[in-house]
Amino acid sequence: MLSKEDTMNTLFEPVKIGTMEIKNRFVRSATYDGSAKRSGHVSERQLQMFDTLAHGGVGLIVTGITYVDPSGQNLPFQNSMASDEYIPGFKKLTDIVHNRGAKIAIQLFHAGRERVRFLKDKTEEAIAPSFVKDDPYFSGNYRSLEEDEIRQIIENFGDAARRSREAGFDAVQVHGAHGFLLSQFLSPYTNHREDDCDLRGGDQTDALQATPNRVDPQLSSSREGDERQGDAVHETEIDHDLPGDDPQGGGAHQNPDHQVSGDLRE
Ligand SMILES: Cc1cc2nc3c(=O)[nH]c(=O)nc-3n(C[C@H](O)[C@H](O)[C@H](O)COP(=O)(O)O)c2cc1C
Repeated sequence: MLSKEDTMNTLFEPVKIGTMEIKNRFVRSATYDGSAKRSGHVSERQLQMFDTLAHGGVGLIVTGITYVDPSGQNLPFQNSMASDEYIPGFKKLTDIVHNRGAKIAIQLFHAGRERVRFLKDKTEEAIAPSFVKDDPYFSGNYRSLEEDEIRQIIENFGDAARRSREAGFDAVQVHGAHGFLLSQFLSPYTNHREDDCDLRGGDQTDALQATPNRVDPQLSSSREGDERQGDAVHETEIDHDLPGDDPQGGGAHQNPDHQVSGDLRE
């Protein structure tokens, strides 16, 4: 067994996640900071905050939840990667972090039905895998997605990943937890679909793989013609943030989630 001293030393040793080499084991976990511009662009305040974090010595910083489409926003002053106009601001952010010798990942997400908490216009509907009738845990104006809308959201994740790579991110973390859209697809409690779309509750692995599968080719194709191609340190990695147990009956449970983690690893 490692001594306490050895364990502490390990924290300061470099580590690789895929091809991304991180100078130590300190990771700033994904944190929504409520400091983006109202439009979703990176703000001066965020540039300073991330500079301070990287200067402090953390090896990898994960941004807060960043929506891939405006229909996925659930909080004010939240970052967006929903169009190319957001790339330059994020490029400034990644440059600042890299100049301090740290790595940076972006957490891409869609809120799904959780957007209802943000909607001021009560005529607007949020979107979800299914509408859950008489749900004691959730109420608000939302509807179930059409199949073509689901495919569009998968594309949105892919496009946002491509933009993230162009903005200099070292990794993309696909947010599949915390009751947001992908997590809603994973849980039998919130996913009652019986259609033939790619993201269905019957097969959790399919549900989870559809989005990273779309993210991956986007990252690969945006590497073409990139002068950093072949430089292992700057390959963009994909990571997946998974849910644990749902507290309510009929929800997702850890064993299937462990199964999904294993399948994704392969
Ligand atoms: C203010 C705040 C904002 C957070 N924002 C996010 C987020 O955007 N995405 C995410 O996956 N987790 C988010 N989290 C969860 C953290 O990443 C982390 O998993 C959680 O705080 C547990 O870690 P801890 O015990 O070290 O605090 C947030 C937590 C806090 C306190």
